[in-house]
Amino acid sequence: MDLFVAKETAFQQRDRKIVAYEDLEIGVFRLDGNFYAYRNQCAHRGGPVCQGKILEKVEEVIAQDKTSQGLKFSQEHIHIICPWHGYEYKIKSGLHPGNKQVGLKKYDVKLRDGGVYVVL
Ligand code: FES
Repeated sequence: MDLFVAKETAFQQRDRKIVAYEDLEIGVFRLDGNFYAYRNQCAHRGGPVCQGKILEKVEEVIAQDKTSQGLKFSQEHIHIICPWHGYEYKIKSGLHPGNKQVGLKKYDVKLRDGGVYVVL
């Protein structure tokens, strides 16, 4: 079954929408022109992860002499941060950045006639 989320034009870049179907909530994200959908349930303790902040990954800049040059925001990796205890997940994969065994349940997304749909 295809669950309608919104018109494609209703999504801004780095936008997100939450859609509900029966007892299921799914967060749908638009990032770099692509769509990603995950169950709105954190792998830690079930928090509403898809409603958390969307932020760039923080990376440490290391010089050739191995000294730290401080921190910077990644231009490549964008994370969703669970509002309950701060677990982070990569929006493009749904995986925790430090533990690939921890991740969100992923759904396929279809674009049809200008609409965005989650495949259930
Ligand atoms: S429930 Fe998401 S970090 Fe704990």
